[in-house]
Amino acid sequence: MEKFCLTKKKSIRINEDTWIIIFEEYLDFLPGQFVMLETPKLVRKPFVLGYWEDNLAISVQVKGKGTKWLVEETRKVKGHGPLGNGFKKDGKGILIVSPTCLTMVNAFRKKVNVDVLVGSKTPVLVPLEFDVVVGNEEFLNKISTLPEYDWYLVSGSKSMEKVCWNHLRGKNVYFSLEEYMGCGIGACKSCAVFTKNGVKHVCTDGPIFRGDELCWS
Ligand code: FES
Repeated sequence: MEKFCLTKKKSIRINEDTWIIIFEEYLDFLPGQFVMLETPKLVRKPFVLGYWEDNLAISVQVKGKGTKWLVEETRKVKGHGPLGNGFKKDGKGILIVSPTCLTMVNAFRKKVNVDVLVGSKTPVLVPLEFDVVVGNEEFLNKISTLPEYDWYLVSGSKSMEKVCWNHLRGKNVYFSLEEYMGCGIGACKSCAVFTKNGVKHVCTDGPIFRGDELCWS
C-alpha cells in the first residue's frame, strides 16, 4: 500500500450519472483491488481500480458533492492503495456489472478469461465492446437466460446483487461489495458486514465474497 497523488487526464461520461476518470500515472494492482481517494473535507471514498484506453482509470457514479468534485473540479487527487484482495479464478467466467465498474472489467480482461454483461438503468452514451442491456426488464431477461460459466462475478448496486443472487444461487457466484469505507485498511470498522462466517470487513477480507458466504435477507 502506498500514498500517491494522481493527475486527472480526462473524464468521459458513460451514462446519466456515471463518468470514467483517466489518470496520467500508473499503479501496479490486481483485478478487484481498490483505492481510497480524498475528496473535499478529507472524506475518503473507495474506487475499484481498472483501465480505460490502456490508462489507469476509475469509474465514478456522481452521488453527491465529493463525487461531483472528483469528476468536474479536481485536477490532482490524493489517495492510498492498492487495497483489498485481488481475484483470480481458472476457467471461463462472466462479469455482471453496472457502468460504475466498467474500468474494473478491463483489469480482469487482461488477466482472466471472461465474458462481460453490463446492466445500466439509463442508456449508455459511449460505444462498448461488451454485451449491454438497459433497464430492469431487459436485465432480468438476460440474467435468466445466461449460459453456464465456471464462475460469475457481480459488481453493481444492491438491487443488481439481489437479482443476480436470486437467479444464480447454487452456482459459483461471487460479489464485489460496495460498502461505505472510512479508511480502507481495517482500522475504522465502518465497512463491517455480517457473513455466515461472522463479521468481515470489506476492505481487508474482501471486497469480493462468495455469494453463499453472505447473509441475504
Ligand atoms: S474501511 Fe475502515 S475498516 Fe474497512
